[in-house]
Amino acid sequence: MSEPKKRNIVRWVIFGFAGICLLFAGGAAYVALQIIEGGPNQEGGIMGQPTVGGPFVLVNGNGETATEKTFGGKVMAVYFGFTYCPDVCPTELAIVADAIDLLPADVVADVAPVFITIDPDRDTPELVKEYAANFHENMVGLTGTPEQVAVAGKAYRVYYAKRETESGSYTMDHTSYIYIMDKQGRYYRHFRMNSAPEEIAEALKAAVAG
Ligand code: NI
Repeated sequence: MSEPKKRNIVRWVIFGFAGICLLFAGGAAYVALQIIEGGPNQEGGIMGQPTVGGPFVLVNGNGETATEKTFGGKVMAVYFGFTYCPDVCPTELAIVADAIDLLPADVVADVAPVFITIDPDRDTPELVKEYAANFHENMVGLTGTPEQVAVAGKAYRVYYAKRETESGSYTMDHTSYIYIMDKQGRYYRHFRMNSAPEEIAEALKAAVAG
Protein backbone atom coordinates (compact mmCIF):
# COMPACT_ATOMS: atom_id res chain seq x y z
CA MET A 1 0.00 0.00 0.00
CA SER A 2 1.34 3.45 -0.87
CA GLU A 3 2.22 5.85 1.92
CA PRO A 4 -0.45 8.50 1.07
CA LYS A 5 -3.13 5.79 1.05
CA LYS A 6 -2.02 4.51 4.44
CA ARG A 7 -2.11 8.02 5.85
CA ASN A 8 -5.63 8.50 4.49
CA ILE A 9 -6.80 5.37 6.28
CA VAL A 10 -5.18 6.50 9.52
CA ARG A 11 -6.90 9.84 9.15
CA TRP A 12 -10.30 8.24 8.64
CA VAL A 13 -9.84 6.00 11.66
CA ILE A 14 -8.99 9.04 13.81
CA PHE A 15 -11.98 11.00 12.44
CA GLY A 16 -14.26 8.05 13.02
CA PHE A 17 -13.13 7.60 16.60
CA ALA A 18 -13.47 11.32 17.34
CA GLY A 19 -16.97 11.20 15.88
CA ILE A 20 -18.01 8.35 18.14
CA CYS A 21 -16.61 10.17 21.18
CA LEU A 22 -18.55 13.31 20.24
CA LEU A 23 -21.75 11.32 19.83
CA PHE A 24 -21.35 9.76 23.26
CA ALA A 25 -20.52 13.10 24.92
CA GLY A 26 -23.53 14.63 23.18
CA GLY A 27 -25.83 11.90 24.48
CA ALA A 28 -24.57 12.28 28.06
CA ALA A 29 -24.83 16.07 27.90
CA TYR A 30 -28.38 15.82 26.57
CA VAL A 31 -29.44 13.61 29.47
CA ALA A 32 -27.67 15.87 31.99
CA LEU A 33 -29.38 18.95 30.56
CA GLN A 34 -32.77 17.29 30.73
CA ILE A 35 -32.26 16.61 34.41
CA ILE A 36 -30.96 20.11 35.15
CA GLU A 37 -33.86 21.65 33.25
CA GLY A 38 -36.28 19.62 35.30
CA GLY A 39 -34.76 20.81 38.58
CA PRO A 40 -35.81 19.63 42.00
CA ASN A 41 -39.53 19.25 42.44
CA GLN A 42 -39.57 19.62 46.20
CA GLU A 43 -42.89 21.43 46.31
CA GLY A 44 -44.73 18.20 45.70
CA GLY A 45 -46.14 18.90 42.28
CA ILE A 46 -46.63 22.65 42.58
CA MET A 47 -43.93 23.15 39.95
CA GLY A 48 -45.86 20.92 37.55
CA GLN A 49 -45.40 17.36 36.42
CA PRO A 50 -42.39 15.56 37.89
CA THR A 51 -39.71 15.25 35.26
CA VAL A 52 -38.04 12.12 36.60
CA GLY A 53 -39.68 8.86 37.58
CA GLY A 54 -42.97 7.27 36.74
CA PRO A 55 -44.60 3.90 36.32
CA PHE A 56 -42.47 0.84 35.66
CA VAL A 57 -43.05 -2.90 35.56
CA LEU A 58 -39.96 -4.94 36.42
CA VAL A 59 -39.02 -8.28 37.98
CA ASN A 60 -37.53 -8.71 41.46
CA GLY A 61 -34.96 -11.23 42.63
CA ASN A 62 -37.65 -13.85 43.26
CA GLY A 63 -38.97 -13.54 39.72
CA GLU A 64 -42.04 -11.61 40.92
CA THR A 65 -43.43 -8.48 39.25
CA ALA A 66 -42.35 -5.26 40.93
CA THR A 67 -43.74 -1.83 40.07
CA GLU A 68 -43.34 1.65 41.55
CA LYS A 69 -46.39 0.78 43.69
CA THR A 70 -44.48 -2.08 45.30
CA PHE A 71 -42.53 0.61 47.15
CA GLY A 72 -45.55 2.81 47.84
CA GLY A 73 -45.33 4.68 51.13
CA LYS A 74 -41.55 4.38 51.24
CA VAL A 75 -38.91 6.81 50.12
CA MET A 76 -36.92 5.20 47.32
CA ALA A 77 -33.21 5.61 46.62
CA VAL A 78 -33.00 4.43 43.02
CA TYR A 79 -29.81 3.59 41.17
CA PHE A 80 -29.52 2.26 37.61
CA GLY A 81 -26.42 0.19 36.80
CA PHE A 82 -25.25 -3.32 36.03
CA THR A 83 -23.68 -6.10 38.05
CA TYR A 84 -20.66 -6.49 35.73
CA CYS A 85 -19.73 -2.82 36.21
CA PRO A 86 -16.09 -2.75 37.31
CA ASP A 87 -16.03 0.44 39.36
CA VAL A 88 -18.71 3.13 39.16
CA CYS A 89 -21.75 1.06 40.14
CA PRO A 90 -20.09 -0.64 43.13
CA THR A 91 -18.83 2.73 44.37
CA GLU A 92 -22.23 4.41 44.08
CA LEU A 93 -24.16 1.51 45.62
CA ALA A 94 -21.72 1.45 48.53
CA ILE A 95 -22.42 5.16 49.02
CA VAL A 96 -26.17 4.44 49.13
CA ALA A 97 -25.56 1.68 51.68
CA ASP A 98 -23.37 3.99 53.79
CA ALA A 99 -26.07 6.67 53.71
CA ILE A 100 -28.69 4.22 54.96
CA ASP A 101 -26.41 3.03 57.75
CA LEU A 102 -26.23 6.63 58.98
CA LEU A 103 -30.01 6.74 59.51
CA PRO A 104 -31.89 5.88 62.70
CA ALA A 105 -33.79 2.57 62.55
CA ASP A 106 -37.25 4.20 62.33
CA VAL A 107 -36.17 6.17 59.24
CA VAL A 108 -34.49 3.13 57.68
CA ALA A 109 -37.82 1.32 57.89
CA ASP A 110 -39.30 3.96 55.55
CA VAL A 111 -36.50 3.82 52.96
CA ALA A 112 -36.28 1.39 50.04
CA PRO A 113 -32.91 1.28 48.28
CA VAL A 114 -33.51 -0.03 44.75
CA PHE A 115 -30.96 -1.19 42.19
CA ILE A 116 -32.29 -1.45 38.62
CA THR A 117 -30.11 -3.12 36.01
CA ILE A 118 -29.64 -1.60 32.57
CA ASP A 119 -28.08 -4.90 31.39
CA PRO A 120 -31.08 -7.27 31.43
CA ASP A 121 -29.38 -9.66 28.97
CA ARG A 122 -26.89 -10.72 31.64
CA ASP A 123 -28.48 -9.62 34.90
CA THR A 124 -30.93 -12.35 35.87
CA PRO A 125 -33.31 -12.00 38.85
CA GLU A 126 -31.01 -14.20 40.98
CA LEU A 127 -27.98 -12.13 40.03
CA VAL A 128 -29.52 -8.71 40.80
CA LYS A 129 -30.87 -10.04 44.10
CA GLU A 130 -27.52 -11.34 45.24
CA TYR A 131 -25.69 -8.26 43.96
CA ALA A 132 -27.99 -5.77 45.69
CA ALA A 133 -27.94 -7.72 48.97
CA ASN A 134 -24.14 -7.58 48.87
CA PHE A 135 -24.30 -3.83 49.39
CA HIS A 136 -27.15 -3.66 51.91
CA GLU A 137 -29.55 -6.20 53.33
CA ASN A 138 -32.49 -3.91 52.49
CA MET A 139 -31.43 -3.24 48.91
CA VAL A 140 -33.76 -4.65 46.27
CA GLY A 141 -32.43 -5.65 42.86
CA LEU A 142 -34.71 -5.38 39.82
CA THR A 143 -34.40 -6.58 36.24
CA GLY A 144 -36.86 -7.37 33.46
CA THR A 145 -37.14 -7.78 29.73
CA PRO A 146 -35.10 -5.32 27.65
CA GLU A 147 -38.38 -3.54 26.88
CA GLN A 148 -39.37 -3.29 30.57
CA VAL A 149 -35.93 -1.94 31.46
CA ALA A 150 -36.15 0.55 28.60
CA VAL A 151 -39.46 1.90 29.97
CA ALA A 152 -38.00 2.31 33.47
CA GLY A 153 -34.81 3.86 32.11
CA LYS A 154 -36.76 6.32 30.00
CA ALA A 155 -38.91 7.34 32.98
CA TYR A 156 -35.78 8.15 34.97
CA ARG A 157 -34.00 9.69 31.96
CA VAL A 158 -31.19 7.19 32.17
CA TYR A 159 -28.87 6.94 29.18
CA TYR A 160 -27.33 3.53 28.60
CA ALA A 161 -25.76 1.68 25.69
CA LYS A 162 -23.82 -1.51 25.04
CA ARG A 163 -20.18 -1.10 24.10
CA GLU A 164 -18.10 -3.96 22.67
CA THR A 165 -14.86 -4.72 24.48
CA GLU A 166 -11.59 -6.00 22.99
CA SER A 167 -12.16 -9.39 24.60
CA GLY A 168 -15.24 -9.89 22.43
CA SER A 169 -17.60 -9.26 25.32
CA TYR A 170 -19.35 -5.98 26.11
CA THR A 171 -19.67 -3.39 28.81
CA MET A 172 -22.41 -0.82 29.41
CA ASP A 173 -22.03 2.93 29.16
CA HIS A 174 -24.57 4.58 31.45
CA THR A 175 -25.41 7.72 33.36
CA SER A 176 -24.87 7.45 37.10
CA TYR A 177 -27.28 9.23 39.42
CA ILE A 178 -28.84 8.34 42.75
CA TYR A 179 -32.50 9.36 42.64
CA ILE A 180 -34.46 10.06 45.80
CA MET A 181 -38.20 9.59 45.25
CA ASP A 182 -40.70 10.69 47.91
CA LYS A 183 -43.31 8.49 49.59
CA GLN A 184 -45.76 9.23 46.77
CA GLY A 185 -43.20 8.10 44.21
CA ARG A 186 -42.49 11.63 43.04
CA TYR A 187 -39.02 12.91 42.22
CA TYR A 188 -37.46 14.53 45.29
CA ARG A 189 -33.86 15.12 44.26
CA HIS A 190 -30.83 13.39 42.76
CA PHE A 191 -27.17 13.02 43.58
CA ARG A 192 -24.22 12.96 41.23
CA MET A 193 -21.28 10.57 41.42
CA ASN A 194 -19.16 10.57 44.57
CA SER A 195 -21.70 12.46 46.68
CA ALA A 196 -21.20 12.31 50.43
CA PRO A 197 -23.23 9.61 52.22
CA GLU A 198 -23.99 12.22 54.94
CA GLU A 199 -25.67 14.47 52.36
CA ILE A 200 -27.72 11.62 50.95
CA ALA A 201 -28.70 10.51 54.46
CA GLU A 202 -29.94 14.05 55.21
CA ALA A 203 -32.03 14.05 52.03
CA LEU A 204 -33.52 10.64 52.83
CA LYS A 205 -34.37 11.78 56.35
CA ALA A 206 -36.03 14.95 55.05
CA ALA A 207 -37.96 12.99 52.40
CA VAL A 208 -39.20 10.52 55.03
CA ALA A 209 -40.28 13.40 57.29
CA GLY A 210 -42.25 14.69 54.27
NI1 NI B 1 -21.67 1.20 36.18
